Amino acid sequence: MRRIIAIDGPAGSGKSTTARLVAERLRFLYLDTGAMYRAITLKALEEGIDLKNEEELEELALDSKIEFRKQNSNTQVFIDGEDVTSKIRDPLIDRNVSLASKHRKLREVLVGWQRQMGEKNDLVAEGRDTTTVVFPDALVKVYLDCDLKERAKRRLLEFKQKGIPSTLKEQSRELSTRDKFDSGRKVSPLLQDRDAVVVDTTDLTIEQQVQKVIEVYQKILKAYEKAL
Ligand code: DC
Repeated sequence: MRRIIAIDGPAGSGKSTTARLVAERLRFLYLDTGAMYRAITLKALEEGIDLKNEEELEELALDSKIEFRKQNSNTQVFIDGEDVTSKIRDPLIDRNVSLASKHRKLREVLVGWQRQMGEKNDLVAEGRDTTTVVFPDALVKVYLDCDLKERAKRRLLEFKQKGIPSTLKEQSRELSTRDKFDSGRKVSPLLQDRDAVVVDTTDLTIEQQVQKVIEVYQKILKAYEKAL
């Protein structure tokens, strides 16, 4: 059995950092599903494809090759051989990715690739639908939550570190718009799966979040092995 830890939660809840570090410590593969939606959004914008056009986006995805390559302790994201790790974090992509990711046909292509990775590897997957749609039978499901204000603060700090000017109000507005979009959409909305363990990260440090997820994993694994 492949060991899969699936982590969902709203933007800025600390999913990426937590999932990456948990994967590193357990020596599992780290699967950043959001990066795949971001890479397709970037390519679509560069090729002038209308993000409302579901068929064209599906075709674009089918024609693309997304890869995660491990370089030292970082995982780089490539689309068609081009390293787009930094480009996909641009505010332009933040603002547009929800428009692309709401389309069922595009999601089906990407979910197919994500499941293929889960067949071959023990992994930590994170996104919006990894607990509910991509890996409904995951060994461990975690829902990472966090107050909007704290998430906006974290995002603002990230922007500052990259030298991008912004304000707390602007970050708060953008996150809340994205939350509404991701939770309110018809196809694979962000939901708290009923089997998910909820971890509220508002008052936790990164190290505490990582420890908490590893504890949940170890507890579930122990119970699973005992039941065999
Ligand atoms: O986690 P992130 O901010 O990198 O995700 C970017 C966007 O991609 C997010 O606003 C919603 C979408 N997404 C999704 O719809 N399903 C996923 N499994 C992951 C991300």
